[in-house]
Amino acid sequence: MLLTRRSFLGGMTLTLAGTGLPAATRELILAPQAIKARFAGHDVSMLGFNGGLPGPEIRVRQGQTARITLDNRLEEGALVHWHGLRVPNRMDGVNVLTQDAVIPGASFRYQFGAPDAGTYWYHSHYLSYDQVSRGLFGAFVVEEQTAPAVDHDIVVQFFDVLLDGSGQYDEAFNPAHFATEGRIGNIVTTLVSNGTGKIVKRGDRLRLRLINPSIDRVYRVGLDGLAGKIVALDGMPLVHPQTLEPILLAPGQRCDVIGDATGPVRFKDSFGERTLSLGEITVSGSRDPSKSPIIALPANQMPAPKDPGQTAELVLQGGAGRASHSGTGTWALNGVSGLPRSPFLSVKQGTTARISIRNETGFPHVMHLHGHHFWELDAAGRTGAYRDSTYLDVGEVRDILVVLDNPGAWMLHCHMLSHQADGMATWIRVG
Ligand code: C2O
Ligand code: CU
Repeated sequence: MLLTRRSFLGGMTLTLAGTGLPAATRELILAPQAIKARFAGHDVSMLGFNGGLPGPEIRVRQGQTARITLDNRLEEGALVHWHGLRVPNRMDGVNVLTQDAVIPGASFRYQFGAPDAGTYWYHSHYLSYDQVSRGLFGAFVVEEQTAPAVDHDIVVQFFDVLLDGSGQYDEAFNPAHFATEGRIGNIVTTLVSNGTGKIVKRGDRLRLRLINPSIDRVYRVGLDGLAGKIVALDGMPLVHPQTLEPILLAPGQRCDVIGDATGPVRFKDSFGERTLSLGEITVSGSRDPSKSPIIALPANQMPAPKDPGQTAELVLQGGAGRASHSGTGTWALNGVSGLPRSPFLSVKQGTTARISIRNETGFPHVMHLHGHHFWELDAAGRTGAYRDSTYLDVGEVRDILVVLDNPGAWMLHCHMLSHQADGMATWIRVG
């Protein structure tokens, strides 16, 4: 077989000449650098990958290997984390725990397989509250071997930015930002990328991949103009697609929706007191909608849970007006603020753990585990959605069940990145 390869930066898949099949390896370069982005009529100094905010949409086929070179063109350290992907530990991109920061001018090659189809994303994991808020993130899509038939596959990212009085990125993170609900931007931008590039018609079937890369802002995303179902959460297919209702999307979380456009598709956020318009996908022309039902996406192969060999409690503490704890940050997990020297849990590879998470703070949080997905359990202990980030409102308790089968040191932290920076982080050792 002829193995002539051509590689392109961003957006394109490496193909084997002549066959039209995707090559076994998807290669690209990700170069973080200073850029200008347009917000509210201003050219704002931000950061981006390969010149863009968001970074290039990375697409691989399920089972393909990604080989991605981080080429650091910043004047500070850089690291990339592949959020939600089950990668080998040394490819996880976490400062201290899995690798040292890549210094300015240096590069690092990440290589990992993509066992699970779905909607994921990548972002800086070096001073992430700052670097992500300045724009270092992008979508990472793993396409199904047999994808559902849709007319458009569209990534939608809701990102907020805090601009100062002169319309520039506000560099100041003040203590109140860290100790309360986080640093909430005064501009929300909806970043839409339509993979097919075709104009959307009324009646077309759409797959929307919603991602929240905002550092601290939670959205409750309502969709007008779409008749459809929620088919995946945090990348993982729902066994039973759910009725399309406003979707809670905390930082780091994703949601896939498949539906037929009944008009312009309008996004609105109802998480706060007021409903905020988040923008729309316009339609032009119309056609008869597909008659085929919206069914579940093909399941990914997930580990089978056993009876928990390990149970643990994780108590979220601290924040404005709360009692003190050890460590230097505002937030704490089980009495300790900041990444502890020894892990919160240390288990043999393959152990099923049930972790009870209790939010004793006065603010909501979203806890994210690296390298694994977990089941949210309901009060009766039945398994619900299989996710990588779980949202806990004030006073809420949630148990999760996780098969810890990926060896290494894995971070477990609040994905409100101001909270993570201010102490709400721990880790688990597997194997
Ligand atoms: Cu998306 Cu530790 O992060
Ligand atoms: Cu938090």
